[in-house]
Amino acid sequence: LREHEEFTKVKNIATIELGKYEIETWYFSPFPPEYNDCVKLFFCEFCLNFMKRKEQLQRHMRKCDLKHPPGDEIYRSGTLSMFEVDGKKNKVYAQNLCYLAKLFLDHKTLYYDVDLFLFYVLCECDDRGCHMVGYFSKEKHSEEAYNLACILTLPPYQRKGYGKFLIAFSYELSKKEGKVGTPERPLSDLGLLSYRGYWTRVLLDILKKHKGNISIKELSDMTAIKAEDILSTLQSLELIQYRKGQHVICADPKVLDRHLKAAGRGGLDVDVCKLIWTPYR
Ligand code: ACO
Ligand code: ZN
Repeated sequence: LREHEEFTKVKNIATIELGKYEIETWYFSPFPPEYNDCVKLFFCEFCLNFMKRKEQLQRHMRKCDLKHPPGDEIYRSGTLSMFEVDGKKNKVYAQNLCYLAKLFLDHKTLYYDVDLFLFYVLCECDDRGCHMVGYFSKEKHSEEAYNLACILTLPPYQRKGYGKFLIAFSYELSKKEGKVGTPERPLSDLGLLSYRGYWTRVLLDILKKHKGNISIKELSDMTAIKAEDILSTLQSLELIQYRKGQHVICADPKVLDRHLKAAGRGGLDVDVCKLIWTPYR
């Protein structure tokens, strides 16, 4: 974001059309100045080019030959597919995606430097094509062990478990890399709720199986969740005691069951056998 825009933050675009949906926007997004007078933008749901008028979009749709995000399909299970888009190889697509995403992300800075990122775009596919449901971005090389920069589920698809699927996917990639990971901070309220839910369910399942006899380090090795995130999750569940200068997990089975019940539904699972991927080099 340019500094001026960061301060003024006038919400310009109020609604967008994307595929079969008309979506109300949440926040300001720094579209190029020629779009400043628009209240509504029309997106091509496949290449994510955006236009000021419906007729322009209709003309575009007749000649746009994309039916899915550019890049490699790295996961397919039933009608769900995940595409990996390299921001350097597909710069315009990646920038369009960032403009679109910023409409729903408040405090995140928009990276014009999309070259440095990979974008994992989740789609529901049918005979008309692959329709974007959400995505997350990931730095190609992160100094801070971030395994996710920005995450978004488009509003029509929210609260159906896709967010947790995307989070789970980001940790599956970290496992394949043999690294622990953590999301870039700050997290939004909805981001924190989703992560807390994911961490809680994953950790409680393992604690239950191991009857609590497991260390934070071992949990981290098994899940690729960073030790600090494990500690804060277990602390919030009051499963940690501090004895002789050490954090120890106290997992009373009854307490675990109570927390697991409260943690709610599991969401869509990532079927790891269907992920065909090698880490970026
Ligand atoms: N109200 C209350 N709880 C919610 C809500 C809500 N509106 N939305 C999600 N949650 C919580 C719930 O605990 C939910 O689990 P449950 O349904 O089992 O109770 C959990 O989060 C995850 O729900 P999902 O359906 O898996 O997640 P969803 O597909 O809705 O995506 C996301 C979550 C990505 C955070 C979405 O809300 C979103 O795109 N928000 C706008 C962008 C954003 O804030 N992104 C995160 C920024 S931080 C970062 O990028 C690193
Ligand atoms: Zn197009």
